[in-house]
Amino acid sequence: MAEAAVAVNLAGLQLANPVMLAAGTAGTLDELRDALDLSRVGAIVTKSITPLAREGNRPWRVVPVDAGMLNAVGLANPGIDAFVKDYAPKIPQVGCPVIGSIAGFSVDDYVRVAAAMNAIDTISAVELNVSCPNVHKGCEFAADPALLTELIRETRAVLTNTRLFVKLSPIPTGKITMTDIARAAVDVPQSSPTGPNKRPGADALCIANTTPAMAIDVRTRKPKLGRISGGLSGPAVHAMAVKLVYDVHRNFAKAAQTPIVGIGGVFTWEHAAEFVLAGATAVEVGTGLFADPRCPIKVVKGLEKWTREQGASVMDLVGKVDDGESQAR
Ligand SMILES: Cc1cc2nc3c(=O)[nH]c(=O)nc-3n(C[C@H](O)[C@H](O)[C@H](O)COP(=O)(O)O)c2cc1C
Repeated sequence: MAEAAVAVNLAGLQLANPVMLAAGTAGTLDELRDALDLSRVGAIVTKSITPLAREGNRPWRVVPVDAGMLNAVGLANPGIDAFVKDYAPKIPQVGCPVIGSIAGFSVDDYVRVAAAMNAIDTISAVELNVSCPNVHKGCEFAADPALLTELIRETRAVLTNTRLFVKLSPIPTGKITMTDIARAAVDVPQSSPTGPNKRPGADALCIANTTPAMAIDVRTRKPKLGRISGGLSGPAVHAMAVKLVYDVHRNFAKAAQTPIVGIGGVFTWEHAAEFVLAGATAVEVGTGLFADPRCPIKVVKGLEKWTREQGASVMDLVGKVDDGESQAR
């Protein structure tokens, strides 16, 4: 039985609990169903889908490192046409809301996949994976506020039916901060607001994707990943992601009424609760699934106990870290 205290409203999407499965870590759609009762998680995010099918990078594509995992999968996926034909019909049987993840290497790529996802009535939201290099500009969409805004303006226009979540890359603070990037994804000038929330930009921010990283076999002197470097996930990134969620919530998202999904190293309910207190309305579990496919269910149970102890719901606890400063505000 789902407990009301852990139910959340994520940009108008009702979830039985805030624990979602992260893109690319749970198969294309529902391949984990035999290992994990998908009706007990809040939602599942599909593998990132591109316009054409992709084989992905040469091996090794996933290697363990201390306190985490490195991956350079290279967006291996069946492509949007096969997704629509072979996977979309199965969505009603998945047992929880499905969020379609989209990736691409040009604005046109994203628009094409977004339009096809928009036509699937059973997709509850799309999550833009903007940690992809733009082939024309040579930098990641997530690293350039102007490029990100352009991407979201164009994608927003075709997402008339469904919500738009934008999954940001973690970037170091510096001249451009994570808050600047978050604002670029939400405040999109000259856009035509669409979707159920009639917003000009993102309905929710997903923070964050993997962190650029590398591992070397010192005996062979070769990089451990076939693609030389990749993205770090798991416990190693958790505390960094908590700080990014906290900063974006405090500096921008709270006032802009934009919910955040916290992603990075959620293995236990305490990790999920930390994200909630830092400002996340929901969380995604990725690497935790590789350690234990039932980990999301343990996280949900822990959150149920925590909300009972706190005498408050998850929604009440969003952003309620007692940092002294927030109290003064
Ligand atoms: C093997 C693997 C494949 C991934 N594929 C995708 C992907 O296709 N799209 C995406 O947005 N993120 C992808 N990610 C990133 C995860 O969704 C998540 O943001 C990241 O792993 C941090 O969460 P975690 O520490 O719980 O794993 C992938 C991660 C891993 C480990």
